[in-house]
Amino acid sequence: ADTLGSAAAGQGRYFGTAVAANHLGEADYAATLDREFSSVTPENEMKWDATEPSRGTFSFGSADRIVDHAQSQGMDVRGHTLVWHSQLPSWVGSLGASDLRTAMNDHINGLMGHYKGEIHSWDVVNEAFQDGGSGARRSSPFQDKLGNGFIEEAFRTARAADPAAKLCYNDYNTDGVNAKSNAVYDMVKDFKSRGVPIDCVGFQSHFNSNSPVPSDYRQNLQRFADLGVDVQITELDIEGSGSAQAADYTKVVEACLAVSRCTGMTVWGVTDKYSWRSSGTPLLFDGNYSEKPAYDAVLSALGGS
Ligand code: G3I
Repeated sequence: ADTLGSAAAGQGRYFGTAVAANHLGEADYAATLDREFSSVTPENEMKWDATEPSRGTFSFGSADRIVDHAQSQGMDVRGHTLVWHSQLPSWVGSLGASDLRTAMNDHINGLMGHYKGEIHSWDVVNEAFQDGGSGARRSSPFQDKLGNGFIEEAFRTARAADPAAKLCYNDYNTDGVNAKSNAVYDMVKDFKSRGVPIDCVGFQSHFNSNSPVPSDYRQNLQRFADLGVDVQITELDIEGSGSAQAADYTKVVEACLAVSRCTGMTVWGVTDKYSWRSSGTPLLFDGNYSEKPAYDAVLSALGGS
């Protein structure tokens, strides 16, 4: 029988999942992960609070466990994430501008150096834009002290640190055409025109009844691809159940397959049991690791059976 990973490979794509290091010892979790997926994203273990809790002291233990596991199974690894306002240790926020710039670049070099050559794509900057109609940048220590240029600087530092890694900008509520995705689009267009190194844009794709799969999802992915970057679906989960949820998953897979530069999809967890949406059932396997209708729909949309 096909798996998500093998069926996606038949379409020239990867099919990944977020992974938490503390579940790798659970036999059913590891068996499902190893059987079905061809890429993993550490759910929390590569974030700043986990990897550089105090300045200049790096801790890679949990992230290394995930990378080692993935490599032992022949899976690729997505890096998530280098520069983000959340899960940021408090010491970062108390630095002055000059120190903060150095600390940001040191952090990028520390992470990307440790995993050099081992990460297929890095989320270099995550969630730098506000929700709502303004298209403005989100307040963060980086934005507030370094200004708009922090994003460009992060990408330039990242390119030098690991030239083999694809460098992505990643965000949510940018999945359809709207003011926020327009702002990201303008930034990517500007980066491409000025030669700022960017290779991909990640569309998190956390969907629920308030934020359903947009009708212009494919169109939005395509307009970014037309700028000359790859697009990736990076944190997919969809609230719901049964055939309605399955139909929504089908829409997402079909949108990616319709865009030749959509290089892969990642769901944000293996099983509903450990979803960050603690009360929800947004993933492809239920709490007992049984395949849900959404699983069958994704496999079928990928051309598998
Ligand atoms: O590790 C501590 C543990 O020691 C402590 O006992 C426990 C008590 O609450 O908390 C644990 O940390 C939690 C961590 O997940 C690891 O489980 C944090 O409280 C919790 O806030 C954190 O949530 C993560 C969230 O990002 C934080 O922003 C979710 O697991 C993770 O799925 C979620 O992922 C984000 C992406 O990185 C970016 N896009 C949105 C996405 C969903 O929110």
